[in-house]
Amino acid sequence: MELADVTTISVLGAGNMGHGIAEVSALAGYDVTLRDINEELVQKGYEQIEWSLDKLVEKDQLSDEEADAARERITPVVDMEDAVAEADVIIEAVPEVMDIKRDVYSEVDEYAPDHAIFATNTSSLSITELSEATDRPERFCGMHFFNPPVRMQLVEVIAGDHTSEETLAVVEELAESMDKTPVRVHKDSPGFIVNRVLIPLLNEAAWLVEEGTATIGEVDATTKFDMGLPMGAFELADQVGIDVSYHVLDYMHETLGDAYRPCPLLAEKVETEQVGKKAGEGFYKYDNGGVDIQP
Ligand code: 3HC
Repeated sequence: MELADVTTISVLGAGNMGHGIAEVSALAGYDVTLRDINEELVQKGYEQIEWSLDKLVEKDQLSDEEADAARERITPVVDMEDAVAEADVIIEAVPEVMDIKRDVYSEVDEYAPDHAIFATNTSSLSITELSEATDRPERFCGMHFFNPPVRMQLVEVIAGDHTSEETLAVVEELAESMDKTPVRVHKDSPGFIVNRVLIPLLNEAAWLVEEGTATIGEVDATTKFDMGLPMGAFELADQVGIDVSYHVLDYMHETLGDAYRPCPLLAEKVETEQVGKKAGEGFYKYDNGGVDIQP
């Protein structure tokens, strides 16, 4: 298969990442099905796309016509057969739980065309292991977007042990057609490149606060202003989701060792469901997507 054969993309999971990936795909001119397990979730994802497109128009980064065309290219669906039957590429962005992913993959295998490439947006899990749960390990790879996908330039393209060169080439070209910069990750290692560097940084920031060395505001001031990051460490944890960060860290701890032991502060936030922007509260509180209090 070549990129020219790709006209339809199916995005599985309409959450934080899935809706953004569907938006980016539609903006690049692909027909998109956006699928989640019930009407409410898929509708919520679609509304987030509408919010984002409106924001891009408001900021003159998109014309009204371009936003309307992108909106029209996206079909929200719940039925798996409707979601993948016409797909050339399927991008999976469901929760980071192996059993959930396996269940989704077995349904995809039943309905997806044989030629379709299957890419996962997993943040850290083994691409090889995931690929072995599908009927197409050679046409399976990682395609890892960053939050928020519509604003972030990078896409990691990760090879599993069974991934064919042809699959990697099509997915890299696909990322480029979305105006993104693909970076190939040659070894299927937990956290790949970005999360291997970023998630320990967020964990270390949490340990500083846990130990009483500095406050959240002080850590964020240094990471944002002195280290030149676009967001403070805690703002960024809220942006990506403290639950996502915690799950990646937990997996890195399990697979790579004690250097990655998650700070209890992160676990507490997950337990109390204060997982960041998407929940309206994480380390900061949010009103309409903006920070409204400082800790
Ligand atoms: N769509 C459209 N607009 C959006 C948006 C979206 N999805 N998300 C935010 N915006 C809007 C905001 O609402 C805000 O609008 P306002 O000014 O009207 O309030 C505006 O964008 C802010 O944009 P600016 O360009 O003025 O602000 P910044 O220059 O700060 O850029 C940013 C915003 C691009 C998000 C920047 O802060 C940034 O790069 N942050 C770091 C994000 C990052 O590192 N993400 C990767 C995390 S790791 C990851 O995702 C991997 C995972 O596996 C864990």
